[in-house]
This record gives sequence, C-alpha cells and structure tokens, in this order.
Amino acid sequence: MTWRSGDVALWSVAAVMAAASVCGVAPVAAQFLEKPTRPQVEPPTGPVRQVIFKNCISCHGIDDYAFSALDRAGWTALIENKHKDLNVPVSNEDRDLVLDWVAARFGPASKPFPRAYVPPQITTFFTDPEAQTLLGSACTSCHGLDRVNEKRYSPDRWRVITVDMRERGAKVTDEELERLVEWLGRVRGTNPNQ
Ligand code: HEC
Ligand code: HEC
Repeated sequence: MTWRSGDVALWSVAAVMAAASVCGVAPVAAQFLEKPTRPQVEPPTGPVRQVIFKNCISCHGIDDYAFSALDRAGWTALIENKHKDLNVPVSNEDRDLVLDWVAARFGPASKPFPRAYVPPQITTFFTDPEAQTLLGSACTSCHGLDRVNEKRYSPDRWRVITVDMRERGAKVTDEELERLVEWLGRVRGTNPNQ
C-alpha cells in the first residue's frame, strides 16, 4: 500500500518537473501534491505507548487511526474487523489499554480526518493582509489567533492542522485553505529567521 502510493507520487512529481523544465518554469514542490493529505498522529505517552510500539506498528503506523471517530464499542469492532484474517496477538490487558486510548483520543465527539482531501494547485498567493483577513473571518470563532501566531510548522503540518480545523467547522474553500497553508508555511514556518 505505502510503496504503491509513494511510487505514484514520485512518478507524478517527476512528470511535472519534466513539463516545467520544458516551459522553463521552476516548480514549487508543495503545489504539486497529487495524493490525499494524510493525518499525523502524535504517539501517546504512558503505558499505552509501549503497548502500541510492541503490538501495533510493525505493519502500519498510527496516523490512520485519525480517520475514525468512534466510541469504545465502535473501535473494538473496527479493529477486530480490519485484522480478522491477520495474526495480531495482543493480551486482553494490552488490548484494553489501546481501546481506552483510541476511544478517548478519537472518540465520537472528535472529527475524523477526511480520507480524500487532495490539495489543489494554487497559482496566486496571499499577501499578509489577505491572509490576516481570512484568519480573522475563519479562525477566530473558537480560539484566538495566538494559537496560530505562536506556532511554527512546516507547510505539511500546517495543512494537516488546517484540514482538521475545517472538519471542526472553519469555513474555508479548498483554494483558500491551500493559500493559507502556503502563507503559514512562509510566514509561520520553521525557518529560524521567521
Ligand atoms: C499483521 C499486521 C498488522 C498489525 C500488527 C496491526 N495491524 Fe492494523 N491493519 C493492518 C492492515 C493490513 C489494515 C488494513 C485493512 C484494510 O483496510 O483492509 C489495518 C487497519 C487498521 C486500522 C484501520 C485504518 C483505517 O484506514 O481506517 C486501524 C485503526 C488499525 N489497523 C489499528 C491497529 C492497532 C490498534 C493495532 C495493534 C493492536 C494494529 N492495527 C496492528 C495490519 C496490521
Ligand atoms: C470550530 C472551532 C474552530 C475553528 C473555526 C478553528 N479552530 Fe483551531 N482549534 C480548535 C480546537 C478545538 C483546537 C484544539 C485542538 C486540540 O487541542 O486538539 C484548535 C487548535 C488549533 C491550533 C493548535 C494546534 C496545534 O497542533 O498546534 C492551531 C494552530 C489552530 N487551531 C489553527 C486554526 C486555524 C488556522 C483556523 C482557521 C482556518 C482555526 N484554527 C479555526 C477549534 C477551531
């Protein structure tokens, strides 16, 4: 699964770069992501961390957990169903720790990360006032802009956060989202001069 999507992405980036070099236009790598944005999940702390590292990461990472928002019974059914033909031996005690954690972290009140957000290609970029206007209209109903201003992230991380915020209720179109992500990566990025 992973190697296949990696392959596809590599091929399409290479094709875009070949096309761009013919026209003499420098490609901006971040604008040519043609695969769905994937969630990023911070590993938990405490005993459940060891359980997950021991039992759950040999076949796939934990990011995919963010695609679901379920109660404990829902998580039990999903995990059983996904692994019914696989050998995933877990003690009852470890299983309970994992289920408690996923049901608390990705419970019914949380918002599942969308599986199919593909960043559109953008050709115009926000000026500072344009970005501030959108932040003011779309990002201040639940928390202050200090949440945004004090953070420094890569564009990929900003995209994951902004897609998550939209699932929670922030009103932005795909184009606005991507322009905001580009601006945030540029102005609230990880470059030490920012
Ligand atoms: C032996 C390999 C293997 C191990 C070990 C494993 N998984 Fe999986 N898991 C899979 C595969 C394969 C799928 C995808 C099944 C499908 O979608 O058809 C999957 C899917 C999932 C999904 C659904 C992801 C989605 O896209 O919604 C979750 C959640 C999950 N696993 C959690 C866990 C947890 C928690 C553990 C540890 C208790 C674990 N997995 C251990 C192979 C494994
Ligand atoms: C519908 C309510 C809501 C709206 C609208 C909203 N947010 Fe949030 N935001 C939240 C909540 C709730 C959290 C806390 C999430 C958590 O701690 O898990 C949060 C946290 C954050 C964080 C901190 C997350 C981190 O990992 O550092 C950032 C940055 C952020 N929001 C940016 C934005 C941006 C940008 C917008 C506008 C596009 C926005 N928010 C709009 C509800 C909202």
